[in-house]
Amino acid sequence: MYSKDGNTKNNKTPRIGDVVWHNGEFINWNDARVHVMSHVLHYGSSIFEGIRCYSTQQGPAVFRLREHMQRFLNSAKIYRMDHTWTLEDLCNAVVEMVRRSGMEQCYIRPILFRSLDEEHPAFGVNPFPNPLACYIGVWDWGKYLGDEAIEHGVDVCVSTWNRLTPNSMPAMAKCGANYMNSQLIKMEALVNGFAEGIALDDRGYVSEGSGENIFVVSGDVVLTPPLSSSILPGITRDSIIQICQELGITIKERTIQRAALYVADELFLTGTAAEVTPVRSVDRITVGKGGRGPITKKIQDRFFEITKGARPAPGDWLTYVRQSKPAPSENNGFEATPVTKDDSDTSPILSFQTAARD
Ligand SMILES: Cc1ncc(COP(=O)(O)O)c(C=O)c1O
Repeated sequence: MYSKDGNTKNNKTPRIGDVVWHNGEFINWNDARVHVMSHVLHYGSSIFEGIRCYSTQQGPAVFRLREHMQRFLNSAKIYRMDHTWTLEDLCNAVVEMVRRSGMEQCYIRPILFRSLDEEHPAFGVNPFPNPLACYIGVWDWGKYLGDEAIEHGVDVCVSTWNRLTPNSMPAMAKCGANYMNSQLIKMEALVNGFAEGIALDDRGYVSEGSGENIFVVSGDVVLTPPLSSSILPGITRDSIIQICQELGITIKERTIQRAALYVADELFLTGTAAEVTPVRSVDRITVGKGGRGPITKKIQDRFFEITKGARPAPGDWLTYVRQSKPAPSENNGFEATPVTKDDSDTSPILSFQTAARD
C-alpha cells in the first residue's frame, strides 16, 4: 500500500456522505467550513471519535456507539469543553447521519473543537473565549492498513518517538493534538518502509501503535498493555478482551517489554480503523511463523462475525440504524433515533482497567 518514500498518493478517495451534522443541524458537506484563525488550527484544541458502521443482514449497524460517544464526552470533560450535548443527543445524531448518508457501511467522525467568534475574535492560547463547534461527518473507509493486512499481517517497527507522558498529554483523551505524536510515529514508520510504528511509553514499556492498541500472544495467553502505559482506552481493545473471555482464552493486562514483541508467538493490532490486524514482523524480526497466527485468527473471526451481525455480541454492541424508532420532532428539528440508556451499561473506561486484571 505504501511506497518506499512514504507517499500515500495511491490512496483511493473514499465515498463521502454529502451531509454533515453541525450543532444539531444537517448541512451540506461543502458548507462544513471553519475560519483559518480558529483556535483549533493553531493550538490543537479538538477532541474526536472514530466509529464504524457495519453492513449487516438487518441493514447498517453502528458498532459500540454508546461507548464511543461516552469516550467523546470524557475527552471533552478532560479538556474543560463545556457543551450541552448529551449522550443521547450524540448517539441519535450519529444514527440519523448514517441513515441520511444512505450508506450500508461507513466510518463516522464526530469532532468537537474550539472555533472562532468572528464578532469578538480571541487569538490567545486561553481556549475559554472561543466558541465550541460540534460536527459529525461520515465516509466509506476500507481496510485501514491495506486490504491484504487483515489476512497476511503487516510489518511494523518500534518507533524512536515515545508515546505521550500521562501528565503532559493524557492519552486517555482522544484529542486532536495527541495525533501530532501519532503522526511522528506514523511518518517515521512509512519512510522506513513499515506499515505502522509501535511507540514505547516514557519508561520504555510497550504502549501502542499510532492509531491502534497492541496485543501479544505468548503460548496460549494474550497480553495487552494497561491504561497506565499511556494508551487510548480502545473500544476495540475492550471488545477483544471480552471476546477472549467468551472464547475461554486467558487475557491479561501487563506492562510489556519491547523485547517481548520480538519473541512473541503472535502479535496483533486493534482499532476502529485497523479492526484486528496481525503483525508479521517487528523491526524486520519475524513474529512467530511470520503471518496470522491461530489465536489471532480465532479472535479475528469472532470479531468479524459479531460486527456483521452473524453472531450475538457479549453485550449490546450493535445499533441497527433502520430498526431504530424515529424520535419526537422537537428533537433539534431532525428525525433522530432515540438511543435509550440501558441501566446495565458500565463505563468502558472503568471496566477496561479491571476486566483483564488478576
Ligand atoms: C492512538 C490510538 N490508540 C488506540 C486506538 C484504538 O481505539 P478504538 O479501538 O477505540 O478505535 C486508536 C483509534 O482510535 C488510536 O488512535
